[in-house]
Amino acid sequence: MLNQPWVYNEMRQIGTDYFSIDEVREYDRRMQKIRDVKKEIEHILNAINTGPGHTVLEFGTGTGEFAIAAAGKCKKIYALDISAVMLDYARQKAESRGQGNITYHQAGFLTYEHRDEPLDAVVTQLALHHLPDFWKFTALRNIYGMLKTGGKFYLRDVVFSSAVENYEEYFTSWIDGIKKMADEGFAANVERHIRDEYSTLDWVMEGMLTRAGFVIENIYQMENCINVYVCVKGSGAAK
Ligand SMILES: C[S@@+](CC[C@H](N)C(=O)[O-])C[C@H]1O[C@@H](n2cnc3c(N)ncnc32)[C@H](O)[C@@H]1O
Repeated sequence: MLNQPWVYNEMRQIGTDYFSIDEVREYDRRMQKIRDVKKEIEHILNAINTGPGHTVLEFGTGTGEFAIAAAGKCKKIYALDISAVMLDYARQKAESRGQGNITYHQAGFLTYEHRDEPLDAVVTQLALHHLPDFWKFTALRNIYGMLKTGGKFYLRDVVFSSAVENYEEYFTSWIDGIKKMADEGFAANVERHIRDEYSTLDWVMEGMLTRAGFVIENIYQMENCINVYVCVKGSGAAK
């Protein structure tokens, strides 16, 4: 399917330009400031039941914090991103912290082909919204196919609530919160996210996960507009 002219080009960045080293540095600086990265990583490692013999793949690894932390607990980590600049940044960070069991690949949800043993877990944070819904569903089916039976899928992303009565208030309160916590520049990125990127509605995301074959074990609403889905690959075939 990848050779077809109608296939979505996931290598073209939408939203923030993660092909620019200045944007990558700025992204890392902001994330260290506004996120409790250590707590997030603990949540992921517990949810996917990480073990020393496990292989874990991360899509959209970004500046690489999760991959580095997971590398200390697992046998092997595959860290993927479409941005070579992000990957170089993440690789240098891993080297400076002495983590060697991470392999970096420039590929995305749609272009990566997993040819090794089935995986124990797949993780992705704040990256799936780069794809329109049909291509999200294609990505979820790809992920399902890479996992062992019983393997875990941890998805964290910006997802919009369908229970909202007034979206203007909902988005304004999110943007105002970002202005207080971070800065005007990041608030502008959030505005662009809502306008130009492909975050979807909660019921659509749940439907896509279950139709891709996953059993959703838990859904957590972490903060404004950010949901976590902890999923498992059951023994049935994808629907
Ligand atoms: C908002 S950053 C998130 C980075 C990191 N996961 C985090 O939580 O900070 C989104 C990342 O997804 C990457 N990305 C964009 N489209 C992608 C795709 N189709 N497949 C994989 N990664 C993608 C971007 O290059 C960027 O590094």
